[in-house]
Amino acid sequence: MVDLNFKYKTLIDFLKSESPFIPELSIILGSGLGDFADQLQIIKSISTSDIPGYPVSTVVGHKGKIHFAEYENKKVILFQGRVHFYEGYNINECIIPVFISHKLGAKNLLLTNAAGGINKNFVPGDLMLTTSFNGILIKKELTDLIGLTNLAGKDNSINLPQPDLNSIIKKSALDEKINIKEGVYWYTKGPTYETPAEIRFFAKYGADAVGMSTVHEAVYSSYLGMKTAAISCITNFAAGISTQKLSHSEVTETADRVKDTFARLVKRIIKSL
Ligand code: HPA
Repeated sequence: MVDLNFKYKTLIDFLKSESPFIPELSIILGSGLGDFADQLQIIKSISTSDIPGYPVSTVVGHKGKIHFAEYENKKVILFQGRVHFYEGYNINECIIPVFISHKLGAKNLLLTNAAGGINKNFVPGDLMLTTSFNGILIKKELTDLIGLTNLAGKDNSINLPQPDLNSIIKKSALDEKINIKEGVYWYTKGPTYETPAEIRFFAKYGADAVGMSTVHEAVYSSYLGMKTAAISCITNFAAGISTQKLSHSEVTETADRVKDTFARLVKRIIKSL
């Protein structure tokens, strides 16, 4: 197990000295969803390239910025972009936004991502609240990160989104008249999209949406005791669900198309916390 307090000491000391406040909520913005930061009153922005030891994202649509922002008197830290396991980073680098959020004092975490829709009732542009995750492909890495017993969890709930945070999100969607879907987010390592056979396999075991992030962040934040929830933007039909060819540009285009709905929802969530 890597001692993250030791590994990231300089980075955390730097951010603690730069942070203008203790955030109540941390939001990690997924592919194509980074523009949400413009919706809040930005107090301070830091490029991740200026943070000592911060891993650099190589993916289009991931800006690499941390914002300290306010909305309705709530203090929020926003991560515009993440690094992925498929980029070659270790899990202990992929969870760095969660580690930072916790160190800076955030008690709530909202994870967002772009995902392919597997559930036949989903269409591109839908938003999905995560009810559960799979993590089988990164169990070993997660175990290395937090230990076997912790991963299993005493009440078996370590990697589940928190029901009370999910209730706030559902109520916020209702208030905003947004028809939010619910389902299981299925992690896959990537970096290539899945084959139709893989999607049929995932569907058979309960997957509603598929993506390449989030699960390790959720497991780690729950381990740290943060209230955690995740929202997916369904950006495309998963492989084989439609005949259309998958592309990263479709992912970012759909995320861009729903950004106003996404923003209304997330702003309402912040207000409701
Ligand atoms: N598969 C995996 N990850 C994704 C997808 C997908 O179809 N869409 C957006 N992220």
